[in-house]
Amino acid sequence: MARGKTMKAITRAEYGGPEVLSYAEVSDPTPGPRDVLVRLRASSINAADYRMMRADPFLVRLETGLFRPKKWHVLGSDVAGVVERVGAEVDGLEVGDEVFGNSFQSGLNAFAELVVVRADHLVAKPDHISFDEAAAVPLAGITALQAIRDAAQVEPGQSVLIQGASGGVGGFALQIAVAFGGEVTAVCGAESMELARDQGAIRVIDYRETDFTDESIRYDTIIGINGYHSLRDYKRCLNPGGIYVMVGGDNRQIYEGMFLSWLVFLFGNRRATNLNVDDDRRAEDLGQLRKMLIDGELQPVVDRTFDLDEAADAMRYLEQHHVDGKVALRVEE
Ligand SMILES: NC(=O)c1ccc[n+]([C@@H]2O[C@H](COP(=O)([O-])OP(=O)(O)OC[C@H]3O[C@@H](n4cnc5c(N)ncnc54)[C@H](OP(=O)(O)O)[C@@H]3O)[C@@H](O)[C@H]2O)c1
Repeated sequence: MARGKTMKAITRAEYGGPEVLSYAEVSDPTPGPRDVLVRLRASSINAADYRMMRADPFLVRLETGLFRPKKWHVLGSDVAGVVERVGAEVDGLEVGDEVFGNSFQSGLNAFAELVVVRADHLVAKPDHISFDEAAAVPLAGITALQAIRDAAQVEPGQSVLIQGASGGVGGFALQIAVAFGGEVTAVCGAESMELARDQGAIRVIDYRETDFTDESIRYDTIIGINGYHSLRDYKRCLNPGGIYVMVGGDNRQIYEGMFLSWLVFLFGNRRATNLNVDDDRRAEDLGQLRKMLIDGELQPVVDRTFDLDEAADAMRYLEQHHVDGKVALRVEE
């Protein structure tokens, strides 16, 4: 069948809330020689998408334009779909292959019927998971893997507290920490406690009932994903030699992590680090996540799936911050 020259995509021309998103007709993207054109079956939304959409934190504007977005008019980077076309220099992938991956290094572009992705940032979709589930994995999974494996260097028997353990990144961080042998305490809302236990947490704390920083329990690692405590609180809750990994949370947590953690953690034999995803490892990490999916160590959780043209509603839903796992966007076959 001849491919049309236009496709449907979710576009934006202004910064702002979900109301800036529109379902529009745009030109088909053109893959380069090392790229693959993927016909999207599902994408998933990440915090990066609403942060870019709103330009929040403000520093985002240094990257994408001071007054209005000058690039990334189509948001999204998680991709699951079917190979439509391969670039001349691409080996190992063929038209019709079912794949998943992340287009982050090609620029945000995934909330669209056709998506260009670097070939090395795609892997074969395991047969036992759906396109929605596969699309849930890449960005959040890579973030979680780098937080647990590289930043925290979790080892068997270590105590790991994960704050925000039931969300997009947190759900993967919990499962990966368990797979690495960590003894995980999950901090999440009451509705998500059962899920966290099923995923292997040995203790689950409802953050509305108990503030873990008021307890006397100390941890080898604290992963702050949806956090809001002060750096001093995190430090106090660590064992000697322990580490606090700031992944995300409210803006205060992000700015404090960036600018003050070196000072607060200067003395006292505890460390703090801010997770900055290493782009050079994204491709191999995707392979490791795929293996963990196949080995049964990782099971994606999709809270809710919306059609692509409902992206604004999906964004509103995610921005409430009470999602279990991921929110997916689907394109019917
Ligand atoms: N550093 C990096 O490279 C990087 C990469 C990706 C993401 N991030 C950051 O990571 C953060 C989280 O992303 P995400 O996609 O996982 O978010 P998310 O899916 O929106 O997280 C929602 C989860 O957080 C829980 N939660 C909400 N308020 C909480 C609280 N006060 N205490 C504990 N848990 C709470 C919710 O639990 P309940 O529903 O049970 O209330 C829900 O399960 C964002 O700030 C994002 O920017 C950073």
